[in-house]
Amino acid sequence: MASLTMLTRSFACTTFLLCVTVYGQLSSTFYANSCPQALSIVNNIVQQAVNEDKRMGASLLRLHFHDCFVNGCDASVLLDDNPNFESEKGARPNQNSLRGFDVIDNIKTQLENVCREVVSCADILAIAARDSVLQLGGPSWEVMLGRRDSRVPNKTAANEDIPSPFLEFSGLQIAFQKQGLSVKDLIALSGAHTIGQAQCFTFRNRIYQESNIDPVFAQSLQATCPRDDGVGSSNLSPFDIVNSNVFDNNYFKDLVASKGLLHSDQALLNGRDATFTQDQVALYSNDQTGFFTDFQVSMVNMGNIKPLTGTDGEIRKDYRKPN
Ligand code: HEM
Ligand SMILES: *[C@@H]1O[C@H](CO)[C@@H](O)[C@H](O)[C@H]1NC(C)=O
Repeated sequence: MASLTMLTRSFACTTFLLCVTVYGQLSSTFYANSCPQALSIVNNIVQQAVNEDKRMGASLLRLHFHDCFVNGCDASVLLDDNPNFESEKGARPNQNSLRGFDVIDNIKTQLENVCREVVSCADILAIAARDSVLQLGGPSWEVMLGRRDSRVPNKTAANEDIPSPFLEFSGLQIAFQKQGLSVKDLIALSGAHTIGQAQCFTFRNRIYQESNIDPVFAQSLQATCPRDDGVGSSNLSPFDIVNSNVFDNNYFKDLVASKGLLHSDQALLNGRDATFTQDQVALYSNDQTGFFTDFQVSMVNMGNIKPLTGTDGEIRKDYRKPN
């Protein structure tokens, strides 16, 4: 009994020390003195944008993900092409796909009016992601702040590090592992696909060629996603056919029913340790609260990917270009 207590304590301690070294410089109160209005300004604009266009909540959540997976959460995704570099916006997973830049524009303009050059673009993305999920009925969490902005994008990394929808489970696991994220994070964060939409070319092969798909579901998608390459490739379908504007646990119910939209969605059931991944998906499909709890933790984990802090990077004046 005594040795069990010691074991528990040393584990907690290791975890604690690890947290301090890895996450030490981010803090939920980072702007409490320097820009106390920061959180409410972001929240107001996100609320308005999502009320006007529910899908915007999904698009803002995805922006934060695509930022964090490329050289860390440093707003590199927001930089435009310029004579010195090629932007991440032109990378395969992003081009003609990412949305929400105009909302970030509005947020940045209002923040600059109130607290000039204080709030980083990387933090705006993290806050907007959190507020979007809440606005669509999902959980909220304390968002960690204090990230700074990069001076350069990395288009190569955007092409290599953002996981493709055609990956098998092992490829997804490797992509998340590279960012320091676990299989549990992978499954919880994939639950983000309970909101938003995807273009036909990202799931065409799945609805015509694959067998682990509900045939009625496949057929319903074929109506708007023709078999012919090049025809209707950008036609949109919701991930969650029940309600793609509500953040709930339906995504996992869909997976259990072989109604995952992307190959990579359905692949979550085929982990190498299939029992664990299947149990995890089944658990979330039956327990929305459990999913929400794990999603919050994993969102904080994702937001902690290699932030620039202290005097590294900069606070961008215009989010589209380095100072
Ligand atoms: C696990 C690996 C993942 C893959 C392979 C993947 C792939 C995709 C693809 C192909 C699309 C559709 C893009 C388009 O057709 O234009 C998409 C949309 C989306 N993804 Fe993911 N994704 C993954 C993980 C995530 C994570 C971790 C999040 C956030 C935490 C996320 C949030 C979203 C959202 C919200 C949308 C809908 C965006 C909208 O409607 O504008 N995804 N994803
Ligand atoms: C960009 O990303 C690639 C692939 O991850 C990496 O090899 C390279 O060092 C990065 N370049 C910069 C300037 O960070």
